[in-house]
This record gives sequence, C-alpha cells and structure tokens, in this order.
Amino acid sequence: MYLTKEEEKILDGERGEILRRCLNLLVSLGEIYGAERLIEIRSAQISGVSYKTIRDVGLEFIEDLAREDVKVKVISTLNPAGMDLDRWRDLEISEEFAEKQLRIIKAFEKLGVELSCTCTPYLTGNIPTFGDHIAWAESSAVAFANSVLGAKTNREGGPSALAAAILGKTPYYGYHLDENRKANYIVKLELSKNWGESLYGALGYLIGKMVKNGIPYFENLYKLKPSLDSLKSLGASMAASGGIALFHAKHLTAEAKVKDVIGEAERIEIDDKEIEEAYNSLNSTEDYELICLGCPHCSLEEIKKVANLLKDKKLDRELWVCTSLQVKAIADRMGYTKIIEKAGGKVIKDTCMVVAPIEDLGYKSVATNSGKASVYLPNFCKSKVYFSDVEDILKH
Ligand code: F3S
Repeated sequence: MYLTKEEEKILDGERGEILRRCLNLLVSLGEIYGAERLIEIRSAQISGVSYKTIRDVGLEFIEDLAREDVKVKVISTLNPAGMDLDRWRDLEISEEFAEKQLRIIKAFEKLGVELSCTCTPYLTGNIPTFGDHIAWAESSAVAFANSVLGAKTNREGGPSALAAAILGKTPYYGYHLDENRKANYIVKLELSKNWGESLYGALGYLIGKMVKNGIPYFENLYKLKPSLDSLKSLGASMAASGGIALFHAKHLTAEAKVKDVIGEAERIEIDDKEIEEAYNSLNSTEDYELICLGCPHCSLEEIKKVANLLKDKKLDRELWVCTSLQVKAIADRMGYTKIIEKAGGKVIKDTCMVVAPIEDLGYKSVATNSGKASVYLPNFCKSKVYFSDVEDILKH
C-alpha cells in the first residue's frame, strides 16, 4: 500500500504510539481489502459506545487512548450509548452501569469527539454532502449516507472508525470506489394493498435477506412517495437483515438522480404475499410490555406524529420514543414531548431499545414500528416482538 512520507513516519512510531497503532489498524485493513492508499475523510461516526456492547474491555481501550494527548481530526460523533445520559435514573438503569457508561463518554470527550449519541448524525449536524468520503460505523447511518446523501463510506467497525477519526483518513477501497457502487439487483414492487409506513421496515427486511451484502436498485419505489424517514427505515432494515450498505432508488437517492447506477443485475419482484410473510417472520407476539419507537432515532416529524396520536390519551403500558439530544430539544420546544409524557410515555435521548439494557429492566416483549429493531431485539435483548405501524401499536 502506498504511504506518504508523513504516514511512514507515523507508522515508524515517530508521532507517538497511539497514532502508530491507529495507522497500523487502517493499513492492515487496507491491505486485507486491496486498498492502494489512504484518503482523507470529511467526518467519522463511531460505534461501540454502549457499555452493554463493549463492556470493561472496550471501556479500558477507550480510556487508554484518552490518557494520551490525542484528538480526533475531523467531525466525529457517537452512536447511541446504553442510557439517556441525563435521565438514566428515570429509566431505572443501575448505578454501576451508569458509572461505566459515563466513563466511556468522558473518554470520548477527551478525544474531542462530539457527544452527540445518535444513529442519525445526519439529522444533527454531522452531514456529509454528495461524494464526500467518510468513515461511519453505524449500519443504518452508513446505508443512509451512501444511498440517500451520496457520500462514500464502508461499514466501519468501532475501532476502525475511531482510528479514522484520529488520523482523518481511511483506506481507499470498497464503497469509496465508484466501480463498487453499481447495483447488482433490480427490485420491482408489485403491490396492490395499501400498506402503512412500517412497509419500509418489512420490505427492507425482505430485500436484505434476498440480496445479502448486495446493492439493490429500486425501480418503482418512488411511486409510493416515500419520505426521508421511510428511506431511513428501509436502509436500516436492509442493513440489519442483509448487511446492505448502499442502495439506489430511481428518482429518490442521490447517485440514481445523476448517473447510471445499474451494473450487471438480477431482477427481483416483490408482491403483497411476500410482504405479508415478512411481517409474519418479524412478529413473535401480540402482547407487549414496552413500546419502543425511534429505530433509527426519530426525526422531529416522527415525534410530531406520535404526539398527535397521543393527544388526550393515556397509555396503558410503557412507551419509549428514542431520539437524539438535538431533535429532542426541538420536540421539547414544540410541545411534543409534553404531550407524549402527559400520555405516560417518555422521550428518551442518547440511547435506544437495542443498546440499552432493557432485558435487565425486566422487559420481555416489545412493540416497535422498526424492521431493524425487530431483527435485533430477539438476539440482543432476548425480547419477543410485535412489529406494526405506529398507529396500530398505540391503539392497542
Ligand atoms: Fe439506532 Fe439503535 Fe436502531 S442504534 S438504528 S436505534 S438499533
């Protein structure tokens, strides 16, 4: 792999041990995937933030880095943590968990990472533009950035995203190269039923399973007039069930609007029956103790919708509406949070139903409108799932 003179010095340890270790990680990755060189990145998004997922080993690794005099070089934000960083007592998170989680956050702060703990960084100021090279880790954010925004990122792991943030560079391979961004599946929808908004979660789940790590092109999805939130949900779900990091959709996604994005491709047709089957696979219970919305983190529009549905209502079970610090601040100002909390729900920031320790809080069944959460909840949280539209979930 070609290295500049400065990169060689870093790799020789002349700029300190931490930079050497970071570059060593990126060069090793680059060599595995055949990268010719490193390229500069515009931003990073770092996963491996929740204490539930990284435990003591991860905590110690980040604290070790933070002890040195090293700072990230580009805008870098964090994935959700294991709790609302301010309201964790309200969620009945244990003192021990909270103490460790706050240490992780403090270590990231020392590294100069913005303490915006969200899987929707593009809604909160970490917004790449068309063609930008970035190093993002959260799979749903990767799908959104590559597809909807037309930025270029591989699906980084937590350590490689952090190393990229510290060096401001990433190996030039995979989705950074135009020749690897062509669709290899063409998806045509043949739907006659009027599905609700959770269709995008179900469709994403189905396509992810069918094209595993491929690049789908949606030929006629635009006819359904999906919103940005719909595309956010679709990408998240495909990432969860099939590792999809990039999709194209005619008239909708960035690159498909300006160039030919179809390579040698196989055709797939999806009908109502297959969508029905996807709903059946994602559902494992009709009864649920906790309602979790906001996977990926809710936009303001989504919170507004929940508030409208809950006006003058009283919930008979727990509700978490998960979002980012920034979106919650606007929801507070608009009065949406107040309506939701008056109905008995909670608007929670910095975390989500998957990376928070909900299994330790005793929840065994969750209702969600998210295809991605429906894929993850059974394994990560040992929870049964009711997957449906938000209107239906809140009506029960
Ligand atoms: Fe985000 Fe958590 Fe879902 S990180 S995409 S809300 S699993």
